[in-house]
Amino acid sequence: METRIVIMGPPGSGKGTVARIISKVYCIPHITTGDMLREAVAEGTERGEVARDYMERGALVPDQVVNSIVEERLTGLDLNDGFILDGFPRNLRQAEALDRILREKGTGLTHVLNLVVDDGTIISRLSLRRSCPRCGAVYHLRNNPPEVDEICDECGAKLVQRSDDREEIVRHRLQVYDEETRPLLERSQEAGLVREMRGDLPIDEIPEIVRRVLARS
Ligand code: AP5
Repeated sequence: METRIVIMGPPGSGKGTVARIISKVYCIPHITTGDMLREAVAEGTERGEVARDYMERGALVPDQVVNSIVEERLTGLDLNDGFILDGFPRNLRQAEALDRILREKGTGLTHVLNLVVDDGTIISRLSLRRSCPRCGAVYHLRNNPPEVDEICDECGAKLVQRSDDREEIVRHRLQVYDEETRPLLERSQEAGLVREMRGDLPIDEIPEIVRRVLARS
């Protein structure tokens, strides 16, 4: 099956968790703008310096910064082998940029996987999320805890809480999602690409459910 996927859903809906599973199951790269931007901030690059303030406020980083990061990342790949994009595009201008990049490479998306979760679940989830600053693995202290308290199972680094997971920032991120990103779904629905999936399924059932959802015509 061809797998050139964009995963969408509000902040905390489980995009990173599901995308990592899909990346492993289908052996395709997981390209996540949130992680790439956090890396740029941590390294203190010029783009990172621009992104920092927007990210701390839960606002979208300017399109030209994000578009150029994604374009560089996609340039190094054979897109026909598949990929999963997580966190991009997030508004209509980014969607147009993605369309252009894919068109120039003679390819296009096969699926838009949309995760559906209610806001109450999201707010309580994000307060207990811990992430690995080294490899990007994501945990939940109750639903998906690491084997050793506060330590990443995959690389052994000490887990951290993201500064944008404070409740007032999460509420702002949800508002930005409603205003900027939700309209994209309507556009993808018109193109017949959207497959909906619940974002609160038991984590060990996700691989099988993803297979079924992506196979749906
Ligand atoms: P980004 O890092 O992309 O954040 P987000 O979209 O807000 O999404 P999250 O990473 O918070 O959540 P998620 O949906 O991946 O859920 P997760 O799997 O972690 O972006 C951060 C910031 O960067 C933005 O605010 C913006 O400033 C900037 N940015 C990024 N991309 C941009 C772009 N394109 N344009 C402009 N700016 C951009 O899961 C959440 C928690 O729930 C975890 O603890 C997890 O373990 C748990 N969980 C997940 N699934 C389940 C489940 N099924 N059952 C139980 N628990 C679960």
